[in-house]
Amino acid sequence: MNQLVAPSILSADFNNLGKDIKMINESEADYIHFDVMDGVFVPNISFGIPVIEHVKRIAQKPLDVHLMIVNPDHLIEPFVKAGASIVTVHYEACTHLHRTIQSIKALGAKASVSLNPHTPVAVLEDVIGELDMVLLMSVNPGFGGQKFIEHTYDKVRKLKQMIDASNSACLIEVDGGVNFETGKKLYEAGANVLVAGSFVFNSVNPKETIAGLRSL
Ligand code: DX5
Ligand code: ZN
Repeated sequence: MNQLVAPSILSADFNNLGKDIKMINESEADYIHFDVMDGVFVPNISFGIPVIEHVKRIAQKPLDVHLMIVNPDHLIEPFVKAGASIVTVHYEACTHLHRTIQSIKALGAKASVSLNPHTPVAVLEDVIGELDMVLLMSVNPGFGGQKFIEHTYDKVRKLKQMIDASNSACLIEVDGGVNFETGKKLYEAGANVLVAGSFVFNSVNPKETIAGLRSL
């Protein structure tokens, strides 16, 4: 139960999204990962609430919603109502992070915070006990298919120490440039959940790729 996989539909076929969701339903995936981008926090725009609402109707896995948006507070409730089980906000986008975390939990969703590659894990020391998950970005967010940043392994190890010391059950998710090679090292470093977009959807057999990532 320690090696979980969350395929990112950013790399799915948007002309056949239902088909790719069915593939994920039938696969060993643990969550479906949604990369919501606003064109301000990140230099790209992806999709938002209406897409998540539609996917929720056919999804058989919990929806893991990664908000790469500025000022997420007023949008948390609509995303939870649309079907998000896990809501991830960015540390860099939240002025009152503690309050934001509480409001995610008050809505019944799991609360997660993401750190960009340049943000040290130490900034989470005072909220780690409140979190269900931390999402470490292993690329600069905005696009699928980028090269994995090697420094992430150290961050996973540091974060794992912080979580163990706080006696919390917080999971470590890593997002960006995940493949069999980086994935194996990430699990060894202490990661629990791997997000994979292009590696899954560009593979010949996505279901097998998901199963492969889960059993590295
Ligand atoms: C990057 C997104 C990622 C992305 C990962 O901004 O947060 O979830 O979809 O894509 P790959 O796995 O292709 O690096
Ligand atoms: Zn993501």
